[in-house]
Amino acid sequence: MRTETPVAVQLKDYQAPDYFIERTLLDFDLYDDHSTVRAELTIARNTDKGSDLPPLRLDGQQLELVSITLDGQALAADAYQLTDSHLILQPLSANFVVHTEVRIHPENNTALEGLYRSGKMFCTQCEAEGFRKITYYLDRPDVMSAFTTTVRADKQRFPVLLSNGNPLAQGEEGTRHWATWEDPFKKPAYLFALVAGDLWCVEDSFTTMSGRDVALRIYVEPENLGKVQHAMDSLKKSMRWDEEVYGREYDLDIFMIVAVSDFNMGAMENKGLNIFNSSCVLASPDTATDAAHQRVEAVVAHEYFHNWSGNRVTCRDWFQLSLKEGFTVFRDAEFSADMNSRTVKRIEDVAFLRTNQFAEDAGPMAHPIRPDAYIEISNFYTLTVYEKGAEVVRMLRTLLGEANFRKGSDLYFARHDGQAVTCDDFVQAMQDASGTDLGQFKRWYSQAGTPRLTVSSYFDKAAGEYTLTFQQSCPATPGQSDKLPFVIPVELALLAADGSHLPLQLKEEDNAQGCERVLAVTEAEQQFTFVGIANEPLPSLLRSFSAPVKLRYDYSREQLLALMRYDSDGFNRWEAGQQLQLEILNQLIADVQAGRELRGDVQLAEVFAGLLADTSLDAAMLAEMLTLPSEALLAELADVADVHAIHQAREFLRQSLAQALHQPMWQRYQALRAVHSEQAYAASAEQIAGRSLQGKLLAYLMLSEHGDVRSACVAQFEQANNMTERLQALACLVNSPFVAEKQQALASFAAAYADDALVMDQWFSVQAGSSCPGTLAQVQALMQHPAFSLKNPNKVRALVGVFCAQNAVQFHAEDGAGYRFLADQVITLNALNPQIASRLLTPLTRWRKYAPDRQAQMRNELERIVASGELSADVYEVVSKSLAS
Ligand code: TRP
Ligand code: ZN
Repeated sequence: MRTETPVAVQLKDYQAPDYFIERTLLDFDLYDDHSTVRAELTIARNTDKGSDLPPLRLDGQQLELVSITLDGQALAADAYQLTDSHLILQPLSANFVVHTEVRIHPENNTALEGLYRSGKMFCTQCEAEGFRKITYYLDRPDVMSAFTTTVRADKQRFPVLLSNGNPLAQGEEGTRHWATWEDPFKKPAYLFALVAGDLWCVEDSFTTMSGRDVALRIYVEPENLGKVQHAMDSLKKSMRWDEEVYGREYDLDIFMIVAVSDFNMGAMENKGLNIFNSSCVLASPDTATDAAHQRVEAVVAHEYFHNWSGNRVTCRDWFQLSLKEGFTVFRDAEFSADMNSRTVKRIEDVAFLRTNQFAEDAGPMAHPIRPDAYIEISNFYTLTVYEKGAEVVRMLRTLLGEANFRKGSDLYFARHDGQAVTCDDFVQAMQDASGTDLGQFKRWYSQAGTPRLTVSSYFDKAAGEYTLTFQQSCPATPGQSDKLPFVIPVELALLAADGSHLPLQLKEEDNAQGCERVLAVTEAEQQFTFVGIANEPLPSLLRSFSAPVKLRYDYSREQLLALMRYDSDGFNRWEAGQQLQLEILNQLIADVQAGRELRGDVQLAEVFAGLLADTSLDAAMLAEMLTLPSEALLAELADVADVHAIHQAREFLRQSLAQALHQPMWQRYQALRAVHSEQAYAASAEQIAGRSLQGKLLAYLMLSEHGDVRSACVAQFEQANNMTERLQALACLVNSPFVAEKQQALASFAAAYADDALVMDQWFSVQAGSSCPGTLAQVQALMQHPAFSLKNPNKVRALVGVFCAQNAVQFHAEDGAGYRFLADQVITLNALNPQIASRLLTPLTRWRKYAPDRQAQMRNELERIVASGELSADVYEVVSKSLAS
């Protein structure tokens, strides 16, 4: 916990390290009431910085120093200096060895950073700066070292002892035993990992493209052995995909994944020993939904891909985080697109980005994908760094084309293998390989905020010319008032009245270049004129969401309907539908606010009827097309978010559609349900599509007052042979007025899955997300449930997180009780787990979005957090930035 006001670290102050650590020998002695860590560090002066010998400042926090020697000589107490955060000593030569022994307390570590206990096991989480809680070290990513690690523990209770790299030796000493691991690849300390526990593993193997055999092991607690096959399949697919698409081969003899129950994030790419939140590894048809299966596949791939984009080539400093995260998210998204439906994956990712990252970019924590200052780096594992970072890499590929992009990534990996580098190095490799000047493009790395792109068109019939005018601007963000124009790749097509896509020839060109192309908008205002156009076309703009911007073009309803029908870009077909629905919803919201009577939209009902009747439409696409923009997106798009009007308007529209379309929805639902009740579960794209549509239909149907729907929902809940269908039905019941059915379903679910922590998380979430009144009281009651614990991040996210971040109507209740509740939880968690406390806080930081009375209530709670006592750097940074004007 902080004692003084924390100071920000600045990108512009970066200095190469004074010393390097060439070799790191670690020896862990693990006990129940303490652990001992012995370290032998072989250190060398960074001669690029000179031949003088500045003091060596090793990072270290919450360590009890037992002994220290320099080149084998014990150091007297006045020969070194100890502070809260450092051990400082004076080297006597350019090459030397430091031995330390420290005592630490993993058994009391609730922050889940460094070495900690999760259930019965020991595990580590070192990214970003957790290693300094394990031993004194140069804990920065540009110090890369060869690690050899010995782990000692009780033989019976910790039969499995793991660390990075390949196993070297093992042995026994009475009731204890030990194992030594050697990692031949130099790595920064943030990639270090250790695990000790009573773990069982599923083993498989993979033959790499050059014919080497790699052992694959997924370690779990014995009761979970039946839930790892999906992760193993995903791992093998990921390894093959990275060879085929990026030419990247795995490099050690063994690759391990360990599942742990207490984990702050999704997973961690430690070299050769990935550690996962159990929610991102374990999956079985009976316990995990389709979404959970897809998340496992994506996260396994993400962490595996880091072996090259992150580990072999790592970050120079934490400002460069998007170098590995943006690139790796892009890689995992493309992997998922190749494994499943590409269009649906893109729709999901864009909906998520627009709702959540755009809100971050418009809020008090807005930052560029390469931030230029931070107080606590853990606060910068953000949607901006990850998801917008991935969009920036995607734009590079769109601008350069696939072949040049691959040349660029090959050059990047070859040039920087074994190095700690910057985002500039990445862009430079792309530039050198493609011969494209990316100087202006780099503004995406330094400027925050979501650009607006406004497009207008002019048709000159006599000349056969069609001109598109693009205007871009970017709103001010904290610390950045004026922005320079970005390079915005706009993928586009022009549609004729019959739906055909016109050949595209710019005025300055000699002939047409296909019917789809990418324009690079680089100026604040810029025109492109297409020639040879007989009739005014309909523009399909920003296809596949080719840039993370807010596009405006004044489409008429008829034009949106035509795009929904004819656009050859599936994403834009969906997007046209969303724009149409947004227009209708915004009108309804205004009607609610003005107290006018609400009316359903006949045209939209007809469109939906047409979609339902179209048997050629893929079920997953249909499910997406039938999904109205979320309340969260409507709030993000509003100047002042009126969450209650938004909820009322959207529920009204859903209700009116449910009424108008009861017949076709009911028929389609029953047909799907019949298929699903007969079939054995598979997490295949096709089955997932069918279940997704079925779920959307059931949710609509439950809004109509037909008695057979209610019993169909109960039947689906009771008879489903998989968690996806069971949870769909449970969510519908929980959000319904049918109290008896709801109570009955919740009770039987809890009884059936009481022993399965991940399923109980779903049970908590479905209740926390209920829009019914009384939800806050229910959430508070559930915090007393035996399956709940504030020390387990998954539980906190499932109950408190879902209520505060995904249940706007209840969280923003008029009396401010939701805000008070969140502040109370943040104050408690600040002391237990600062990373989780800080993340949980996000909804309160968005107070500027709401009406003045809400603003005052929310600010009050933020101020109460400030006044509550000593804040962690994590919470301090978020609260103070949020309160600063
Ligand atoms: N590098 C991890 C990833 O794959 C992120 C991560 C896992 C992390 N655990 C963490 C970041 C703890 C900060 C703190 O994205
Ligand atoms: Zn990552």
